[in-house]
Amino acid sequence: MPSIVAKDPRGNTINYHEFQGKRFPPVPIQIHDLDISLANLPDIPCRDDDVTIVTYPKAGTHWTWEIANMLLSNGTEVSKREKEESMIEVQPTEKINNLPSVRILNTHVTPDIFPKELVTKKAKIIYVTRNPKDIFVSYYYHVKKIKFYNYGGDWDSFFEHIMTGLVDFGDWFTFTKQWETFFQEHQDIPLLRLNYEQLKQDMGTGVDKIAKFLGVSCNETTRENIVQKCDFANMKQQKGVMSEHMKGMIEGDEHPMYRKGVIGDWKTHFTVAQSERFDEEYKKQMSGYSFDFEKYM
Ligand code: A3P
Repeated sequence: MPSIVAKDPRGNTINYHEFQGKRFPPVPIQIHDLDISLANLPDIPCRDDDVTIVTYPKAGTHWTWEIANMLLSNGTEVSKREKEESMIEVQPTEKINNLPSVRILNTHVTPDIFPKELVTKKAKIIYVTRNPKDIFVSYYYHVKKIKFYNYGGDWDSFFEHIMTGLVDFGDWFTFTKQWETFFQEHQDIPLLRLNYEQLKQDMGTGVDKIAKFLGVSCNETTRENIVQKCDFANMKQQKGVMSEHMKGMIEGDEHPMYRKGVIGDWKTHFTVAQSERFDEEYKKQMSGYSFDFEKYM
């Protein structure tokens, strides 16, 4: 449920949930319940064997969750469960507490409200990055397709909006810098960095890296099966089937989490001026940081 109706710089309205000055998605649960989950988040109990996927939205969270889930559950098929069931900032705390081990948690929050115990327990983190220009485009379709946002702006308006950083889960630049600083300061935390573009170009190597990091064996047959099952077309077909209830929340008949699944869609959306403006901002804000996705920008 939205708690605020915000405006993009061109005056188009967009719904968000606001908690302690930060914006979150206008999810269809009671505002009070979401506030409790968010307030509890830094203090939720964690386990040594927890694995948390940390991403800025639209970086490939569902995809990574599925691969990790298949590896940990010896699954031969994609899961009937959804990654949202273990999204720590929106689920009720009891629900997260009751998930069986090994939990594959996931979150888009910044380190300041990340569970403190996940740090002290040295539980594993998988951090996934993606070319931010593709993230912005994917985010645009996300807010257009999910009716709760009630956003009528076009791409140019959304570009202005996301460049202000006033979207749910906040500014991409801030998110990325805060996590980089956090990883610098907590080098003892087991961390696996993944990159959407590399995973897309060679999922088999990505599956091997995740298996090694999780300490599970993965022979060639398992790897090939996961690569096949977690291929975009298959995931879209298997996981993109919407219930009647969900269809009521979505514009069109396509699942918003399985849209195109390609590298470089930004090139058909960004104008030259938008791309240059982003590059300039990137140079200004991100000097001193280097990322795998830079070669895809
Ligand atoms: P696009 O909108 O560019 O298609 P998240 O899970 O973090 O919300 O990320 C969603 C993005 O990942 C969407 O990007 C979605 O299509 C893409 N995606 C989902 N599953 C994928 C897969 N198996 N392979 C490649 N991309 C995938």
